Amino acid sequence: MATQAAITNNRRMLLSRLLEARAETDALFRMVRPEAVYDRPIPERHRIVFYLGHLEAFDWNLLSGPCDLASFRPEFDRLFAFGIDPVGGGLPADRPQDWPRLQDVNEYRDRVRQALDRVIETAPAPDDGEGSFGQLLNVAIEHRLMHAETLAYMFHRMPFERKWGAVAPRVLQGSSVTPECMRVPAGRATLGLRRDSQVFGWDNEFETHTADVPEFTIDRYKVTNGQFLQFLEDGGYNGRALWAEAGWEWKTAQAISHPAFWVRRGNAWAYRSMFDEIPLPLDWPAYASHAEAGAYARWAGKALPTEAQWHRAAYGTQEVHERRFPWGDEQPAASSQYPSSGAWDPAPVNACTLGGSAFGVEGMLANGWEWTSTEFAPFPGFRPFACYPGYSAQFFDGKHYVMKGGSVRTAFCMLRRSFRNWFQPHYQYVYAGFRCASE
Ligand code: AVJ
Ligand code: FE
Repeated sequence: MATQAAITNNRRMLLSRLLEARAETDALFRMVRPEAVYDRPIPERHRIVFYLGHLEAFDWNLLSGPCDLASFRPEFDRLFAFGIDPVGGGLPADRPQDWPRLQDVNEYRDRVRQALDRVIETAPAPDDGEGSFGQLLNVAIEHRLMHAETLAYMFHRMPFERKWGAVAPRVLQGSSVTPECMRVPAGRATLGLRRDSQVFGWDNEFETHTADVPEFTIDRYKVTNGQFLQFLEDGGYNGRALWAEAGWEWKTAQAISHPAFWVRRGNAWAYRSMFDEIPLPLDWPAYASHAEAGAYARWAGKALPTEAQWHRAAYGTQEVHERRFPWGDEQPAASSQYPSSGAWDPAPVNACTLGGSAFGVEGMLANGWEWTSTEFAPFPGFRPFACYPGYSAQFFDGKHYVMKGGSVRTAFCMLRRSFRNWFQPHYQYVYAGFRCASE
C-alpha cells in the first residue's frame, strides 16, 4: 500500500500535468478568431465550439463520480460527452445556432475546472491498480493531449484569415533526400505494455506479446512529397489496379486527386502549412490518407509495413534486446532535441538528429505518424477500461488501421513504444505519412 504522503505527491504531480495540458489546449483555442468559433473546419467532425466544451465535459464525466461531486450542468455533461468518428455515416447537419453561447461554454469550463481542482488531491478514490484515481487522471491528461493534436490538424484546415498566428519565413531547400532501403534481419518484436508496468497505457496497449518477424526490407526514410509527386504525375490517382476497392470508391466519389495538404497553383504544387502557403517542400514527409499511402506503395511495388514490422524496424536490434526508443534507451534530455518538436509543420524526412534505429531506419518518431497495414484490433488479453469502455473497443470494426510513431504535435508521453493511434483509410487530415516495406 502506498502511504498517504506518496498518494498526495502522485496526485499533485498528475494535477500539475493536467494544468499543463490545459494551458496547451487553451493556447490552441486562442488561435481561433472569435468569428470562427462556430466553424466546422473538417466536414466530418464537430464545430470548434464542441471541442471547447468536450475537453471539460470529458474530465467532468470521468472524475466527478470518484470525487463525489454533484453535476451543476447535466445537459452540457451530455451534449459535450463524445466526439464523432470521421467518415462513416452521413455528414453532420447541425447549425451554429444549435450550440450554446460561447459565454456559457466558457463558464462551464471554469466551473468544471474549479470544482475538480479543489478535490483532486483529496478525492477518496483508491490510488493503486486498475481503475485507480491515478489511472483516471492519466486518462484525462492524455485525452486532452490527444485533442491538442487533433485540434491542431483541424485548425490546419481553417482559412488563414480565420486564425491568429504566423511562422517565420523559411528558406526551403530542394530535396537532399536519396531514398534508400534498409534490410531488417528476422527477429522478434515485442508489442504492447505489461499489465504490471508502472507506465500509463491505454486499454489497447495491453497485454504485451511477441511476434516473430521474417527478414524484410523497409524504406530508410518516410516517403517524401517529392516521391509522392512522381506517383501523382505517373497517373497514380487514376490507376485502378493500385487502389483497394473502398479506397477507389472514396477517391472517385470525393474527386480526390492529391493529398489534402497540397494545393494546385497554376502549373505548380503548393503546400498549405499551418499559417502560410509555400512551394511544395519536396523533402518533407508526404502526409496522406491510408488509401493514398496504400496506392503509392503498390505503385512502388511494395506494401505498407505491418505493425510488427514497424516495431521491429524501430526498436529491434541484432541481439535479443529491444530498445525503448529507436535511437537507444535514453530519453532525449529535452523534447527540443526533436528536429520538429513543437513546430507546426514537419521537418525534412532526413532531419532526425537523434539517430536512426539499430537497422539505420530514420525519423520513426515525432515527424508524422506512419500508417501500417495492420487493422486496429485488440491485443490478446485486451480489457476495456471501466471508466471509458468505448475508447478503443468501439473502433475494433475492421475499418480502422494502426498508425505508429507520432507527429510534430504529439505530446512526448505518447511517443512511448506501446502507443497506438488509428484512423479510417479515407481520413486525409491527420499528420500522418508512411514508409514502404517489401519482402
Ligand atoms: C485515438 C486519436 C483516434 O481522435 O478519434 C479523443 C482520440 N478519443 N477523444 C480520436 C480520442 C476520444 C482518438 N484517436
Ligand atoms: Fe475526445
